[in-house]
Amino acid sequence: MNNSAHTISHTRSFRFNAEGNSLRLHAQTSLPSLGENQVLIQLAAYSLNYRDLLNMQDINGRRADLIPLSDAAGTVVAVGKAVSNWQPGDRVSPNFFPAWHDGVFAPHHLASALGGGQVDGVLAEHVVLDADAIARIPAHLSFAQAACLPCAGVTAWHALFERGQLQAGQTVLVQGTGGVAMMALQLATAHGARVIVTSSSEEKLARARELGAWHTINYRQTPDWDLQAMALTEGRGVDHILELGGAETYQKSISAVAFGGQIAQIGVLTGFNLAPNMLPLQFKNANVNGICVGSVAHLRALNQFMEQHQITPLIDKTFAFEDSAAAFEHLRSAAHMGKVVIQNS
Ligand SMILES: NC(=O)c1ccc[n+]([C@@H]2O[C@H](COP(=O)([O-])OP(=O)(O)OC[C@H]3O[C@@H](n4cnc5c(N)ncnc54)[C@H](OP(=O)(O)O)[C@@H]3O)[C@@H](O)[C@H]2O)c1
Repeated sequence: MNNSAHTISHTRSFRFNAEGNSLRLHAQTSLPSLGENQVLIQLAAYSLNYRDLLNMQDINGRRADLIPLSDAAGTVVAVGKAVSNWQPGDRVSPNFFPAWHDGVFAPHHLASALGGGQVDGVLAEHVVLDADAIARIPAHLSFAQAACLPCAGVTAWHALFERGQLQAGQTVLVQGTGGVAMMALQLATAHGARVIVTSSSEEKLARARELGAWHTINYRQTPDWDLQAMALTEGRGVDHILELGGAETYQKSISAVAFGGQIAQIGVLTGFNLAPNMLPLQFKNANVNGICVGSVAHLRALNQFMEQHQITPLIDKTFAFEDSAAAFEHLRSAAHMGKVVIQNS
């Protein structure tokens, strides 16, 4: 083991309690053990996703004692003896699915998701991960900014660029102003696409326009936002819709998508019970792409794009590690725009 880990005397993590509905701080004197193909990472920042709220609400207690969160960034402090591509001091972030390196998605990739199922996540001062499950952080990003990318950033990247093959000049619609939506706004705008943002808040819509949104729609004031999107695109419809709402938005996404357009099925913000009439998709020759975050290769490609365009993720608010529970409550309030971050100084 090539390391500086011997200087670390203890480490802390947050775990869900036995009911799986709140956090408890856990301290230990031993560091996680390191396999020969693994790296030990000292984490400096973390970000929350809507999924983390769903995990915390798991009333069956299935997440009892689990370390939550999938998204973090930090510094390699030790490497296993077979690891040649990383060294102490490297700035890295873990991929959401440590087992999905590249290529077609498989069930064992899904089962590896950090901070879900039975797999411990990253809300810890130190984590051990396989050397091929991490990616280098772009030089222009802080740890806090890099921690915004593994779930929200990669999901937006995968939907728009890998599956969507987004072209400059095309139209994109994102629902709300949360983490995935704002990452998609930033990425698509940098690529020369025209982005429509929907939100319940006029203030957030004004900020979205400052960030480059082409048009904005208040989905509370204009419940038929699909018709508005049609009008804004002169009756063509939207080329790429990031479906984040689920139950309450799906039918409107089908209505607003262009002939030959694409719906990236991503979210469940308004619930899981989807029962849309799919027939219009047929008459539009439109596509639905199911999106489940992404691979290490997607994270690397995203990092490269972020660096090329010098994009910095939109951070709404940063909480201290000790105040992690307050970060969850802030996300739950939906007062945020972009990402909610936890920092460990
Ligand atoms: N499939 C995947 O791989 C994947 C990956 C990441 C996330 N997701 C899913 O994608 C969704 C977004 O995740 P996130 O982490 O970005 O969430 P988030 O940051 O918590 O987003 C919250 C925002 O969603 C917006 N919203 C709520 N109801 C809405 C509605 N009816 N119409 C439009 N917007 C609405 C609100 O925006 P305003 O305040 O502006 O109204 C709210 O502030 C979640 O369902 C999450 O589970 C899926």
